[in-house]
Amino acid sequence: MRIVRTISETRAALADLRAEQRCVGLVATMGALHAGHISLVRAARAACDAVVATIFVNPTQFGPNEDFSKYPRTFEADCALLEAESVDLLFAPEPAEMYPEGSSTMVEVEGISDRLDGQSRPGHFRGVATVVAKLFNIVGPDKAFFGQKDAAQVAILRRMVRDLNFPLEIVVCPIVRDPGGLALSSRNRYLSPENRQAALALHRALQRIEARVAAGASDAATLVDAGRAVLAEVPAVRLDYLRIIDPDTLEDLPDIRLGALIALAAWVGSARLIDNLVIPPAQQATTTSA
Ligand code: PAJ
Repeated sequence: MRIVRTISETRAALADLRAEQRCVGLVATMGALHAGHISLVRAARAACDAVVATIFVNPTQFGPNEDFSKYPRTFEADCALLEAESVDLLFAPEPAEMYPEGSSTMVEVEGISDRLDGQSRPGHFRGVATVVAKLFNIVGPDKAFFGQKDAAQVAILRRMVRDLNFPLEIVVCPIVRDPGGLALSSRNRYLSPENRQAALALHRALQRIEARVAAGASDAATLVDAGRAVLAEVPAVRLDYLRIIDPDTLEDLPDIRLGALIALAAWVGSARLIDNLVIPPAQQATTTSA
């Protein structure tokens, strides 16, 4: 695996790959890699000829009081993991390479970037859209792989790709969980053993909602109450939001019959965790007729 730090080296390496007319897959990360990230690398490996990974803790997507400076950085271990997955190229720039002095252009996906985490973390999705647009321009991938874990991020990036005519396909990969159901996240490192236990309530809340849907419930307010009740049993969990929304527009839905994303965010100790569940239309059809 070749490791490059600059945009010009990345472009040169990509020009070589392009000369061979190979399908290039991109997996963008902020490092502190875990099996969730690796699942994206494997999906890229399976679908593309060349895999480019990026590690960049992007300052523009962190708010002033957020965890940018203490975000876990495990570069050596990350390189070993990517190497083991036969990644071709790793682009790991410093902030000054991505945002040289005088940088002032930002990408705003209006209308949806201030919903969900965008509401709780103002400016977050502006930073995400900006850095991902830059990575798309630098790498020029044919396919870019993102995790369903960050469902709002997926909606925003899909809209950006459509609106700005990026010539690439976004591939969304399923959420990878630990055996207890906790969605893997670099921020799980912030959890004490007790809080890790408490954090399992997030998935339990989604499962409770899923069970209610399977039993025929479709009213969003009722389903939200069912999920909230599970979280309320665990004092260490402080809910930020639990919403039932349209997966593309992130607008609240009154019921789940036409397809829904159930998304939640909660604080557990100093870690802000997110999780979600997609209720596919087929399941609703079954539910409605049951
Ligand atoms: P990061 O949190 O490092 O995540 C990188 C990619 O891994 C994202 O597409 C995310 O959805 C995916 N991912 C994280 N946990 C996952 C899990 N448990 N299962 C499946 N996929 C998972 O998301 C970002 O970085 C940044 O916002 C980024 C897109 C890199 C822009 O800075």
